[in-house]
Amino acid sequence: MDLGIKGKTALVTASSGGMGRNIAHSLAAEGANVVLFARSEDKLKAVAGEITQQHGVRAVAKVGDMRVGNDVTALIELMKAEFGGLDILVLNTPRPPNPIRETTEEVDMARWDEAYQNQLAGVVQVVSQAMPLITARGWGRVIAITSASVKAPMAHHSLSTVFRAGVTAYMKHLANEVGASGVTVNCVAPALIETPHRAGSAAYSPAQAEARKKLTPLGRMGTQSELAGVVTFLASVQAGFITGATIPVEGGMVGSLF
Ligand SMILES: NC(=O)c1ccc[n+]([C@@H]2O[C@H](COP(=O)([O-])OP(=O)(O)OC[C@H]3O[C@@H](n4cnc5c(N)ncnc54)[C@H](OP(=O)(O)O)[C@@H]3O)[C@@H](O)[C@H]2O)c1
Repeated sequence: MDLGIKGKTALVTASSGGMGRNIAHSLAAEGANVVLFARSEDKLKAVAGEITQQHGVRAVAKVGDMRVGNDVTALIELMKAEFGGLDILVLNTPRPPNPIRETTEEVDMARWDEAYQNQLAGVVQVVSQAMPLITARGWGRVIAITSASVKAPMAHHSLSTVFRAGVTAYMKHLANEVGASGVTVNCVAPALIETPHRAGSAAYSPAQAEARKKLTPLGRMGTQSELAGVVTFLASVQAGFITGATIPVEGGMVGSLF
């Protein structure tokens, strides 16, 4: 199936590694040119190089912090100069603070502020500045990575749940406002996606990680490509009548009917 995004310009935030990198690869495999944005110059340049080599599209790396207004302004200027605008915006974000804790143990306001900055403020910062570029084109896609916790809060994850829910509400407002400009706005809510690059620093012990697989009817973790594929489909022409939605990618872990 041709997803209709060949030659489109896609920005993926927080894309020097992990999910952001894999989503950028997946969009590039469908022919989209990609802009990568994160703080580590070496990693970003390596990802841009591998994307160009493997998929034959343009991949531009821009170093910056999505929580910092001037860095995002510089990113917007680069997209205007290099691509004349933007079609697809994937809002991947840094993780909430580690280690995860019980809600009653989350008494350090610095951790709350970090969680807010990492998961919600950065999203608002990027959307605020990037949206005029997308609406100007009369067609666009905005996709935020949130968490399955927005539907069924997971133990020890309040620093994630609270702000992912905020992103979900923000995206719903946005969907209602920009639909008339031909722009769809959706969330992808993952859980239990394998993160091999973080194996040594995972929040879970090997025994806990094994137990987590049993949380789904499928009895396994999800793969990076299963997550990236859903994001890429939401960026497609065929997904044009889906907006204001949250698509779960959690192997059936959340046990509700809807
Ligand atoms: N795996 C799952 O099942 C799951 C479930 C729910 C939610 N999530 C969420 O999915 C997201 C991605 O997960 P992941 O495993 O890929 O995370 P990760 O490996 O920690 O990667 C995070 C990315 O964010 C970038 N980054 C960090 N701070 C940044 C900033 N201030 N501005 C711009 N970029 C920044 C990092 O690059 P630099 O350090 O170079 O900036 C890196 O590229 C996270 O928010 C995670 O909580 C994952």
